Amino acid sequence: MKKKVLLFTGAGVSQESGIKTFRDSVDGLWNNYSIQEVASIGGWREDKSKVLDFYNARRKESKFVSPNKAHELIAALSKYFEVTVVTQNVDGLHERSGSSNVIHLHGELNKVRSTFNPRLIYEWENDLNIGDKCVEGSQLRPHIVWFGEVLDPDLLQKAKDITSEVDVIIVVGTSMQVYPAATLPWLGKENSLIYYIDPSEIEFHIPSDKRPFFYHIKEKASIGMEKVYNELMELFNEKGI
Ligand code: OAD
Repeated sequence: MKKKVLLFTGAGVSQESGIKTFRDSVDGLWNNYSIQEVASIGGWREDKSKVLDFYNARRKESKFVSPNKAHELIAALSKYFEVTVVTQNVDGLHERSGSSNVIHLHGELNKVRSTFNPRLIYEWENDLNIGDKCVEGSQLRPHIVWFGEVLDPDLLQKAKDITSEVDVIIVVGTSMQVYPAATLPWLGKENSLIYYIDPSEIEFHIPSDKRPFFYHIKEKASIGMEKVYNELMELFNEKGI
């Protein structure tokens, strides 16, 4: 049986592709935009154009960037292991680098959905504007989970169920500040290995029972992923067992 590996990723895994993170001190998006105005359900009710402009800019930006080495190494792991990627990112770069088993906890930039019927979801490549409507005639909105909204309970449960069975958890480029996503790394088996790849100091609580299995690789995603990839190749044989 191949070992099971969970990747839990955040904005930092795409930073080397040229996508800004949210909370980094200088160019973090949330230093330059108000979460409340552009990424909350209240902001949407207040000023839809402002919200659409923000996500149109993100969608455009994501078209002009490419997956980086970290995304590629993550995709390469599935040659040897049973890999699931649970990402908070909406940029689509995991799929573009070849990962196929990807759960998007916070939505996807290249999809939009009806404001009236959330099951009406469409692929969307270009700008989304006021007046763009679903087949039932309601305004479309970005397929993104905003502050003030709950995650899709089925997706969250699926992510939790998968996490509870993995042997190795690799967390890449997330500040672990946003819940409930940030609980996932602690939901593995009692002795699952947990690698945390992030160049910053840790500013979150590590449960005491997880500390013996927790390793902080204080590097950017590409370098950190290379280290972890090589370590997994040494720990488990080339068949992933
Ligand atoms: P954050 O911006 O909160 O955290 C990004 C993390 O990436 C930080 O810990 C950085 O130290 C790290 N980082 C920066 N450059 C890196 C690099 N080259 N390699 C590896 N790590 C690097 O982003 P998230 O944790 O993803 O939600 O944020 C979680 C959620 O908050 C997002 O999904 C988004 C946001 O509000 C929604 O919009 C719903």
